[in-house]
Amino acid sequence: MCGIVGYIGNNLCKSYILKGLERLEYRGYDSAGFACLDTDTYRINHQKAEGQLINLINKLSDQAIDSHLGIGHTRWATHGKISEENAHPQLSCHKKVAVVHNGIIENHLDIRSNLEAKGHTFLSQTDSEVVAHLGEIISNKTTKDDVINIVTSLQGAYACLLMSSDCPETLIAIRKGSPLCIGLGHEQIIVASDPFAFAGQTNQVLFLPDQSFALISKNIVEVYDFSGHTLDVPISQVDITWQDDEKLGYKHIMLKEIYEQKNAIQATLSNCKQLDLTLWDQLGLTAQRVENLRSLALIGCGTSWHAGRIAQFFFEMICKVPTRVVLASEFRYAPFFHEENTLYCGISQSGETADTLECLRLLNTLDVPTMALTNVESSTMVRETGGFLLTKAGQEIAVASTKAFSTQLVALYWLAHRIALQKKYITMESMDRAHDDLLITAEILENSIEHYRIVIEEKLAPYYAQFKRFIFLGRHIGYPFAMEAALKLKEISYIFSQCYPAGELKHGPIALLDNDTPVILFSSLDERVYPKILSNAQEVKARNAHLVAFVFEGQDELQQLADCVFVFPKVHPLLAPLAMTGLMQYWVYSIANVLGCAIDKPRNLAKSVTVE
Ligand code: AGP
Repeated sequence: MCGIVGYIGNNLCKSYILKGLERLEYRGYDSAGFACLDTDTYRINHQKAEGQLINLINKLSDQAIDSHLGIGHTRWATHGKISEENAHPQLSCHKKVAVVHNGIIENHLDIRSNLEAKGHTFLSQTDSEVVAHLGEIISNKTTKDDVINIVTSLQGAYACLLMSSDCPETLIAIRKGSPLCIGLGHEQIIVASDPFAFAGQTNQVLFLPDQSFALISKNIVEVYDFSGHTLDVPISQVDITWQDDEKLGYKHIMLKEIYEQKNAIQATLSNCKQLDLTLWDQLGLTAQRVENLRSLALIGCGTSWHAGRIAQFFFEMICKVPTRVVLASEFRYAPFFHEENTLYCGISQSGETADTLECLRLLNTLDVPTMALTNVESSTMVRETGGFLLTKAGQEIAVASTKAFSTQLVALYWLAHRIALQKKYITMESMDRAHDDLLITAEILENSIEHYRIVIEEKLAPYYAQFKRFIFLGRHIGYPFAMEAALKLKEISYIFSQCYPAGELKHGPIALLDNDTPVILFSSLDERVYPKILSNAQEVKARNAHLVAFVFEGQDELQQLADCVFVFPKVHPLLAPLAMTGLMQYWVYSIANVLGCAIDKPRNLAKSVTVE
């Protein structure tokens, strides 16, 4: 993880780098740092601060350090505790070289002991510091061979930026695994983990290919592979905008994003509809291939995995395609059995999550069809998979995913219908009905928040914020939704939340029930499932536990059993989770708000997880 930014050009590196870091803070906010070259003394000046970027900005505010060449970093700690010594930039002996790094240098201990034996002194516990010491070979006559020398020593996945006081007109960018892109401006170049860092400054972007490096001066970018061959990398035009006023009057970005869901769903749906004629092409498929599709594998992490688990029901019930949903971090190292006519779909808001990306890369080497469902058009997954489908949630900034989740459900529900239509399992009329059902459900998602907003804010959130643990239950399509609710609560409130399939309660977890552990139960609109949910609710109440139930109109028995109920209008049974999404998120958000948690940037987390 971590966000890195580098600048070479005019004497403005501080403002460009700090602005870039602000936009990359979603990648980690354990500490931040900045270094630039003082062109009078030819020394590297640097400053670091623990905690969020604002601490670094405050430290730098009264310091007149700036220049034509600089690098910056926002950290998500992997190796070494959160401290100023472990913050980046990391420096070599005598502070000749400064490095910012995103990724993991797997053989750092070996390199470190070799360098220590040669007299190098290390000041941090990070794996990254070795790169700074290796960088000491950089001189004013630096060539690609010096960089090749450095990369040959390194194992792992990394994106690094190096600057040396001996080589004041060059910024070195190296990429293996972790993302890195170069924004080409007029007489200035900005390098960053993600093009958001320079959105608004330039839309001319050179995406550094995997296992390559660049020697960058003010006007020239030379790109080489790790064997030293020149690479002719095309310049892409990337039109992205950055919304600076992030909260727009809301107390937290997460709250704003919860309220953006209705519009995001509508935008995602109209994007899907617009694609109709070019859809299979964009997905890297053909109509024939879709008709022959025999199975699907959905791959993701966290919330995106939950969306996949819910969508499994869409694909199996609507287009009758057997579907398995795998956690990317587990799939990557499990045995692989090739199955004909299987489509592999990575689901990822960011399109950068290393676990998911590495699975897709592995699948690409096996020559099986891959696609990505993602929210970021400029992401690595879009570039590296056979095809892609976009959710149109707009920039999702809060670490806890909200609108990305609901739009993933929408896109996957729509896709399941589109495949069913292609296979002639449904008519165009059913396709249109699915579209309308999604729009109706989006209305319910938003209206239900408004309906319960005040009672949650004034009464329920303060009450539930007193509990130290919760149990979440769901069945069938409601089980992965309950997992998502439990994840959301633990992420932003740090309250211990455990989720079980409701039917499993009696097989063990029921022993956990007591007065201090509220049970949150999500009902179902499936006629076969609802009676079983009701029995599970009765089991909970028979043990005197406190029951909160998310139910649908007409489910009177369940309503009467529960200590607290949220009632929703009926929707298509497969859309029950989507209908409940907004209120579930708002209820969880409100609890975290009462507790005064850092909702948009919860402790220990980062928005985009770019290490395995
Ligand atoms: C969601 O609230 C989490 N922050 C996290 O689980 C996230 O969904 C996961 O890291 C996957 O991210 P992606 O969708 O960008 O791949």
